[in-house]
Amino acid sequence: ASATIHIDPARHVSEVDPRIYSGFTEHMGRCIYGGIYDPDNQHGLSDPKTGLRTDVAAALKDLNVPIYRYPGGNFVSSYRWQDGVGPKENRPRRPELAWLTEESNQFGTDEFMTFCRAMGAEPFICLNMGTGTLEDALAWLEYCNSSANTYYATMRRKNGHEEPYNVKYWSLGNEVWGPWQIGQQSSEDYSKKALQWAKALKLLDPSIKLISCGETGHADWDRVTLRTLAPVVDYHSIHIYTVSQGHHEVNVNGPAAAEKALEITKSLIELAKIEAGLDKDITVCFDEWNVWDPVRAPGEKGAEEHYDLSDALAVASWLNVFVRKADVVKIACIAQSVNVISPIITSPQGLFKQTTYYPLQLFANLMQGTSLDIHVESPSYTEATVPVWVAKLEKYTPDAQKLTKFIDVSAVLSGTAGQESEVRVAIVNRHAQQSFEVPIRVGPTWELVKGAKVKVYEVWSESLKDSNWFNKEKVKTVEREVDFDGSYNVKAHSFQILVHKV
Ligand code: AHR
Repeated sequence: ASATIHIDPARHVSEVDPRIYSGFTEHMGRCIYGGIYDPDNQHGLSDPKTGLRTDVAAALKDLNVPIYRYPGGNFVSSYRWQDGVGPKENRPRRPELAWLTEESNQFGTDEFMTFCRAMGAEPFICLNMGTGTLEDALAWLEYCNSSANTYYATMRRKNGHEEPYNVKYWSLGNEVWGPWQIGQQSSEDYSKKALQWAKALKLLDPSIKLISCGETGHADWDRVTLRTLAPVVDYHSIHIYTVSQGHHEVNVNGPAAAEKALEITKSLIELAKIEAGLDKDITVCFDEWNVWDPVRAPGEKGAEEHYDLSDALAVASWLNVFVRKADVVKIACIAQSVNVISPIITSPQGLFKQTTYYPLQLFANLMQGTSLDIHVESPSYTEATVPVWVAKLEKYTPDAQKLTKFIDVSAVLSGTAGQESEVRVAIVNRHAQQSFEVPIRVGPTWELVKGAKVKVYEVWSESLKDSNWFNKEKVKTVEREVDFDGSYNVKAHSFQILVHKV
């Protein structure tokens, strides 16, 4: 089979915001305890001073994560941040209502800030709009960001942290629309409340960036909340998880839903700005995304997914969406960073990198720069091959021609103008059996010319079901250099990034 990729280096979509490669650490399952934090240190893997797992930190560092979202997720909606600061022996153990566990509070705000510093990342706090009050939220902001001579700023200093943390990103609740959420509200009630919270938070610290709680980006909730909150927020958050339901075709087509959602969210943001007469930037903070089958890996049991090659290809397709939509999505947080629906799985003795780690690492390190407009000629899935997917999405993809192409692509131009730069092309061949011969045409004047040396980073394995385990990483990146003759043979069910100097 064949497909052609056309890349126009003159048509810039937008700069790829490095924050689309952000992470998320929730008090859920083994993400914090036994994931990033293991003070017992029985196997000498943790920093004796901070209790942070050094092997986990090293694996995360290779993912270039610029921001970590914390402390939830659903967890935050019954979280008292005050329980998690001060001397550890005084911290209360509480019932935890999101995942029905117990929270020891041995890891809290200060430990999270230590983690972020160690990772060279910025903290992003999601506020409790379930059991939490505006007073609690203001107190948390004061604790984190104030250098005044006031109660919570003084408390932080007494706890040994002289300088404010200057947390820039604050989001107004988590999935407040969901029936599972403690403190679920209607879109109207949430909007009224969030507007008042936003006003007060900005009075205390005008430098912060606020994020409204959206739904999937294409729901009525998004329309209503944006209409009220557009004047006070900088980002609108959306969450989507895609599910394989045991079918590779469904798995790799899922991210198309996110692409459609981003197009709709962009329009809803525009509409809200027009209605409110606003001239300001509001972009999308996609602060939870991933492949997650909650039946296969239930939240109450820690949501430990064991990903295979098919899932890695789905994650690569997700990341292609973010690069193609670089004008709309400026922050995205994979949910989550360790153990819970995560690219990294730990045991007390070590860790392994899941199949999904590798596309994420390649994107975070290579797909930076300017997102380029691309056009792909490729055969597509048909309704006959993806019936479940069609059924699920038809409510907002009525156009059957929107069925996904087998060859899925994003491209960037790296480097600054005038300096040596590279065209980097991320290609997923979603087809389970068929390889494709893919001519790559870059603009009217440049060709990826015959004889050019192209560096290839490939993630592939014999079977779509192949996965990794401790000391057995079967699916990972293989690097090679090829003499490019104008087209590239893309293996069945493979992901690769081609790098060409221009
Ligand atoms: O990431 C797991 C959970 O999924 C989060 O806690 C919640 O926000 C979402 O429903």
